[in-house]
Amino acid sequence: MTTRLKGKVALVTGGARGMGESHARGIVAEGGKVVIADVLDADGNKLAQELAPNAIFVHLDVTSTADWDNAIAETIKAFGTLNVLVNNAGILTVAPIGDLTDEQWDRLIGINLTGTFKGIRAAAPVLTANAPSSIINVSSTAGLAGFSGGTAYVSSKFAIRGLTKAAAVEFGRDGVRVNSIHPGNVNTPMTAGFSDAKVPHVPMNRFGEASEITNMVIFLASDESSFSTGAEFVADGGERAGNATPFS
Ligand SMILES: NC(=O)c1ccc[n+]([C@@H]2O[C@H](COP(=O)([O-])OP(=O)(O)OC[C@H]3O[C@@H](n4cnc5c(N)ncnc54)[C@H](O)[C@@H]3O)[C@@H](O)[C@H]2O)c1
Repeated sequence: MTTRLKGKVALVTGGARGMGESHARGIVAEGGKVVIADVLDADGNKLAQELAPNAIFVHLDVTSTADWDNAIAETIKAFGTLNVLVNNAGILTVAPIGDLTDEQWDRLIGINLTGTFKGIRAAAPVLTANAPSSIINVSSTAGLAGFSGGTAYVSSKFAIRGLTKAAAVEFGRDGVRVNSIHPGNVNTPMTAGFSDAKVPHVPMNRFGEASEITNMVIFLASDESSFSTGAEFVADGGERAGNATPFS
């Protein structure tokens, strides 16, 4: 076991499965403590039991201000502090603009964007009091370029980039760093059903694994990234470098 996060307490939203689960496991493996916050109570509790005593589960719907207040209070009660917030919870809706309903738009923006804002707002006082601290906002390569059918998702992920920069500027003197990460296609329940064969445009021609994104999260959560704030960290197999599909 290495100890790059010794003494750090992190809260990971959407921590019960997928990349959030991988981040929770990685944080504990590096000597940190983690609050797994999710709407998936059974999965979250199971993971927390496995990682105990270095993890707890807290029910958190990121759209609920009351849930956020409770999650921060439970974190302090269990571990005494909070140094790292990973705003990872997110959903994906794919639909042409004409078919995208008000309800789909509002739900996606509510979770992906407003949920990230509420997390920053709720955690800021305790992160400031326990600086140096780090906020990691999960955007996407869809926060760097659009894709067809991704209007709501792409809008939310671009907005997370902007939110990250505004918060980084606001908290720069408080010792709270705020960065966004931009994974490409990663194997998780969100992408179940897609296959590597569908990404010939990606230079590395494969999906990423959650652990490859966790490595970046650990770097940003730790003091190794002490001079990075307001920045964008990409792990996408070269997707944003250019289209690798051969001319035919
Ligand atoms: N998988 C990919 O290819 C990919 C690529 C780039 C970015 N992302 C982003 O990474 C993050 C994690 O995605 P994933 O692929 O692990 O997906 P996932 O569906 O496996 O996990 C998402 C988690 O978020 C939780 N969640 C959903 N709504 C919530 C809410 N209202 N409150 C609290 N938790 C909620 C879910 O319960 C789940 O545990 C998301 O923000 C996603 O947009 C994913």
